[in-house]
Amino acid sequence: MARGQFISFEGGEGAGKSTQSRLLCQRLETFGIEALVTREPGGSTGAEEIRTLLVSGQVDRWDPLTEALLHNAARHDHVQRTILPALERGVWVITDRFLDSTLAYQGYGQGVDFNKLNRIGEFAVGAAMPDLTLILDLPVAEGFARTERRAGGVSRYEQMDRAMHERMRQGFLSIAEAKSARCRLIDAALDIDSVHQAVWHSVQERFKIEAKQND
Ligand code: TMP
Repeated sequence: MARGQFISFEGGEGAGKSTQSRLLCQRLETFGIEALVTREPGGSTGAEEIRTLLVSGQVDRWDPLTEALLHNAARHDHVQRTILPALERGVWVITDRFLDSTLAYQGYGQGVDFNKLNRIGEFAVGAAMPDLTLILDLPVAEGFARTERRAGGVSRYEQMDRAMHERMRQGFLSIAEAKSARCRLIDAALDIDSVHQAVWHSVQERFKIEAKQND
């Protein structure tokens, strides 16, 4: 059986990653491709427990390097328990955030040294890197306007200052440029369906999926 393909969505707050992950999964299923949607931090029982430690509490709850280690500890469990077993069964995996989020948030946003981040990231992920990364780009103010309209409380990251979020956005833009073989930059300011069409176009092109009639 062929190994599944591994796709990550990345981007700032309110960029629409969860919605687009779901829509992509549904679209793949219409092509007979079994896919699984997962997320970070989280995606396995232990990693979901670590998620609670990361997204709740005071803004300065963690020292930034400790925070990067916690994200990577959760990631290792997610890779071992959820991602690799699914890929080996031939299931495609769509994750809402992965390793690039640590570079963007803890590296560009919170100032953790990139050499350290790359080293701990390698430990956590090994060879399990995404085959395609879709970076949903949105002005920070627009992202916050969207999250404010959502039900539910404000996460620890949403309480961090706007300057951190601006650095993080620029970080994702730099990653998209530096890792252009793996990453595609998508304008997330468009409506949900237009973003989905752009996502689908990138997926079809990357994995050579033939268009169906009326598609
Ligand atoms: P979510 O709300 O998009 O599910 O993600 C929770 C928060 O975790 C989000 O604000 C970004 C943050 N985060 C990091 O800071 N570093 C990471 O490596 C990951 C995966 C998420």
